[in-house]
Amino acid sequence: MKIASIVGARPQFIKLNPVSKKLRKYHDEILIHTGQHYNFELSKLFFEELGIPEPDFNLGIGSGTHGKQTGEMIIEIEKVLLEEKPDFTIVFGDTNSTLAGALASVKLQIPVGHVEAGLRSFDRSMPEEINRILTDHASDVLFIPTKTAYDNLKNEGITGELIFSGDVMYDVLSDNIELSRKSKILEKFGIEANNYYLATIHRQSNTDDPNNLLNIIKALSKLDKKVLFPIHPRTLKFIKKYDYMSNLGKNILLIDPVGYLDFLWLEKNAKKILTDSGGIQKEAFIFKIPCITLRENTEWIETVEDKWNVLVGTNIDKIVNAVNNFSPSHMQSNHFGDGNASVKIVDAIGKYLTKK
Ligand code: UD1
Ligand code: UDP
Repeated sequence: MKIASIVGARPQFIKLNPVSKKLRKYHDEILIHTGQHYNFELSKLFFEELGIPEPDFNLGIGSGTHGKQTGEMIIEIEKVLLEEKPDFTIVFGDTNSTLAGALASVKLQIPVGHVEAGLRSFDRSMPEEINRILTDHASDVLFIPTKTAYDNLKNEGITGELIFSGDVMYDVLSDNIELSRKSKILEKFGIEANNYYLATIHRQSNTDDPNNLLNIIKALSKLDKKVLFPIHPRTLKFIKKYDYMSNLGKNILLIDPVGYLDFLWLEKNAKKILTDSGGIQKEAFIFKIPCITLRENTEWIETVEDKWNVLVGTNIDKIVNAVNNFSPSHMQSNHFGDGNASVKIVDAIGKYLTKK
């Protein structure tokens, strides 16, 4: 069968990787890259280091307002789907590329599978929350990573088929952790294992809002260790726009975003992780590194319930206090599956297409 996988942003290349590998054993995959992320460090780097095949189509959409970016993606994805006539489409996560792929496909009556379905932060000011809800309701097969996600979908009366697959990010992490040991990233930046904090931010509410962004920078600048801060271009853009470069403390090492293998190694060796990323909250949990989440809510609520993740928002004192005092040692449950989510996903797609 012919399956179209649609991706566009950094975390989607990572999620695609294990699924695509399995899919290509049984099906013809057409890979569509919307071009939402286009900087080398956010896109091509992942294709190179994870051995992801070159996209068959790169739509080159780039950045823009939500409506413009999503609309242009739908127009261009539709053209490809009309030309290629796939039997099934797979979308990943919660970006504008996810929503555009799902809408373009379902309107052409090509069934859609959503990897990472059912996540909810219950915060409709997050663009990702709107993307999650709409994509789930447009999808025919929903691949669910966690028990909470399953409950969320049941509560919304979703009509698609629910497949409890586990989390593909656990698959890809398990596949790559040994390789990441070869990373020389600590040496490159002169940092010692267990003696630095790792920080990332890119959430719209933290970057575009000048007060939130300044609070985060001030809090990071007050910390007692070096803070390695691989900076998302969105965040750099706003730091420059608001003229905050001079507010960055001397302890902050601002670096370009790094590849997946280097990033896994940075996470595994960090004393603590400060982030607003979805994926990084899970990776911190899996590595048993205390995670301080610079948001008021999370869709990965299990990490908070198990007490390995704390939500602190953007209040300077709360952030600094969490870094100084949040030292979990609790038992963890396994929330993210058994590392075979991608096998289950490909298997379920096969069964769905046979039934059809
Ligand atoms: C997007 C997703 C977010 C996801 C994140 C992963 C949406 C609404 N947001 O956020 O859910 O967590 O990717 O990293 O889909 N930019 C560049 N180069 C690039 C890409 C972006 O310079 O290659 C800059 C541009 O100034 C752009 C801004 O970053 O305007 C934001 O990019 P955008 O794709 O809109 O959203 P992200 O913040 O990357
Ligand atoms: N990541 C990376 N390099 C970086 C920062 C993050 O490889 O410099 C990886 C990280 O390991 C995780 C994913 O990118 O797997 C998370 O993506 P991001 O934070 O951009 O998006 P989100 O998960 O919030 O949608």
